[in-house]
Amino acid sequence: TPRVFSGIQPSGDLHLGNYLGALKRFADAQNKGVQSIYCMVDQHAITVWQDPEKLRQATRELAAGFIASGVDPKRSILFNQSQVAEHAQLAWIFNCVARMGWMKRMTQFKDKAGKNAENASLGLFGYPALMAADILIYHATHVPVGEDQKQHIELTRDIAAKFNHDYGVDFFPMTEPVIEGAATRVMSLRDGSKKMSKSDPSDASRINMTDDADTIAGKIRKAKTDAEALPSEAEGLKERPEARNLVNIYAALADMTVAEVLAENGGQQFSAFKPKLSDLAVAKLAPISTEMARLMTQPDEIDAILRHGAAQAREIAAPILARTYDIVGMVR
Ligand code: TYM
Repeated sequence: TPRVFSGIQPSGDLHLGNYLGALKRFADAQNKGVQSIYCMVDQHAITVWQDPEKLRQATRELAAGFIASGVDPKRSILFNQSQVAEHAQLAWIFNCVARMGWMKRMTQFKDKAGKNAENASLGLFGYPALMAADILIYHATHVPVGEDQKQHIELTRDIAAKFNHDYGVDFFPMTEPVIEGAATRVMSLRDGSKKMSKSDPSDASRINMTDDADTIAGKIRKAKTDAEALPSEAEGLKERPEARNLVNIYAALADMTVAEVLAENGGQQFSAFKPKLSDLAVAKLAPISTEMARLMTQPDEIDAILRHGAAQAREIAAPILARTYDIVGMVR
C-alpha cells in the first residue's frame, strides 16, 4: 500500500519554494486519500548550531505552516522528529550500512560544509543516513520533495538496497521521489540561476510565507526579468530563466500547466504580468500567513498536536525497528 512521508527542517523562515515544492503538494497528497506522514526534522536542523529558543519557535512556526497550508493533523500524521526516537535508532544502523564515499558525493553536504569540510559536524556529514531512516522507518513508498532533494532520495534507495543485500532480505522498499508540477525548483527572484533559499543573504531574493501583501508585491515588481514579452509556448522560455521562473510560480499557484498560463498570457509584457502574479501570490499566501499567525498564539495546542502525531508515528515505527533489530541480530 502506498504511504507518503516527507520532512522539512525547522531552521528559519518558510519561503515560496518550500510552499510550492513541498507544503502545497503535501496537502494535495493527503487530499487524494493517501496515508501521509509529515515531519519537522529538528534533529537535522541541529547539524548546524541552532539557538535553542529559536529552534523551539521555528518548530512551532513550521507546524503552523503545515496546518495553515492544508495539512490536517486529523487526517495526516504531523510531528517533530526528536519525539520519535526510532528515527535516530535506525539511522545508527544505516550509518553502518552507508559508505563514506557515498556521503562525500552529496551536493548538499558540499554546499553546506563549504571549503572547510574538516570543521563540519559529523552530523552534517551523516545527514542523509538520518534522512533515509526518516523515510524507511515507515516503509514509505513515496516522498514528495523539491528537485534539490533528489540525490538524497537516490541515496535512500542505495541504503535500502545494500541493507537488503547485506542481510539477504527483502525488507526495505525502494522509495520513489515524487518531484512533479511546475515548481519543483523555485529560483531566486534576483538571479534565475540560483534556487530560492532561506540562506540567501538577500531577502528580496525570496518570498517568505509571512511577508505581507505590500512586501510580496514589491518583491515581484523588482524581480529580475528580461525585456521581452511572454512567449505563447513553453519552448520560448528555454533560454530565459527569470521569465521561466515567474511563469512556473504562476502556474503552480494557480494549479495550471505552464502551457495554459502561456496560452492566456503570451504576448504580454512583464509590466502587465507581474501585477497579475502578485495579486495571485497575495490571494494564495495571505490566508495562510493569517492562519499561521493565529495558530502561533496557541503554542500549547501546537505542542499537543505534535505529541499526538508522535504517538501515532511511533505505532508504525516501533514494529519496523523491532524487525530491523531481529534481522541485524540484536538480542531483545
Ligand atoms: P528543506 O528543509 O531544505 O526543504 C523542505 C522542502 O522544500 C523544498 N524546497 C524547494 N522546492 C522548490 N524550490 C525551492 N527553491 C525549494 N527550496 C526548498 C525541498 O526540496 C524540500 O522538499 N533534507 C530535507 C529535509 C528532510 C526530508 C527527510 C525530506 C529530512 N528528512 C525525509 C524528505 C524526506 C531538507 O533539508 O529540506
